[in-house]
Amino acid sequence: MLNEVIENLAVKDGEIYIDATFGAGGYSSAMLEKAECKLIAFDRDISVKKFAENLHKKFGNRFIFKNQKFSEIAEAIKQENIQEVDAIVFDIGVSSMQLDEKIRGFSFDAQEKLDMRMDQSQKLSAFEVVNYEDEEELANIIFEYGEEPKARKIAKKIVLDRKIKPINTCVELAHIVRSFYRGYHKTDPATKTFQAIRIFVNRELEELKLALNATLKILKKGGRLVVVSFHSLEDKIVKDFFREQAGLKNSYSRYQPDEIIDKNLIRNFQIITKSAVSPSQFEIDINPRSRSAKMRVAHKL
Ligand SMILES: C[S@@+](CC[C@H](N)C(=O)[O-])C[C@H]1O[C@@H](n2cnc3c(N)ncnc32)[C@H](O)[C@@H]1O
Repeated sequence: MLNEVIENLAVKDGEIYIDATFGAGGYSSAMLEKAECKLIAFDRDISVKKFAENLHKKFGNRFIFKNQKFSEIAEAIKQENIQEVDAIVFDIGVSSMQLDEKIRGFSFDAQEKLDMRMDQSQKLSAFEVVNYEDEEELANIIFEYGEEPKARKIAKKIVLDRKIKPINTCVELAHIVRSFYRGYHKTDPATKTFQAIRIFVNRELEELKLALNATLKILKKGGRLVVVSFHSLEDKIVKDFFREQAGLKNSYSRYQPDEIIDKNLIRNFQIITKSAVSPSQFEIDINPRSRSAKMRVAHKL
């Protein structure tokens, strides 16, 4: 959704921006090309450093890279003597590089050790979760973060199997999940369980909530916040945050408009995208992974 993102960031000369999820630097690079701006990029995954070095060579001190979690953006920009920024973009989730590099243990067809850590210096990996978490907790993780209806059965089988031998690899875990699904499935039945464990390992939802709250402190008045997310749990967090900060509350009557402004609430943001924006069919055709992306935009008041 690069075009939609860049358009909504409204990049201008002399402004300061944050790319909270640097990845391969696609968004950062487009922003720095677009105007004589300054940009601070964050990624907890040190393997993206090579892309950051390339941008540093090209854009010099207009570009700063921080190998930190995006929940730390407020403190991190202070260290650069920056108090507020003009726009912030989040492109939440796992990158194609992380998924494609089998050794990272994110992908269900990897004959590699279960890992899924975005920050490889972190202790907890998917291996510990799958092999040591108790059955009840494992079932809750798979149900809550994967919205997997067969979570209890899957957790039970994981616990039975690991008594015989540890579940080491991604394919072993995928095999357990698939054993509960017969016939053809458009999406691999292991997807939800893998998503759940990844979200738990990386504390992805907590990170997102902390970072959204941090934007309240560091976005200038009139500043733009653009968030792209990839699954419903994340999108709901973003949607609820925007609504709460826009002073909106749900109307429970079908005869009233579904959004009413509660005058008692403080309004920190104005919502620009009334509903989430999805990628064009053209983008989905060239990049099928983008099909579940959802973009929401708000402006700081
Ligand atoms: C979908 S990719 C971003 C792709 C990027 N927009 C680009 O143009 O290449 C998400 C990136 O965010 C990083 N990430 C995810 N959660 C993070 C967090 N809490 N703090 C910092 N980086 C995070 C991941 O390591 C990954 O590299």
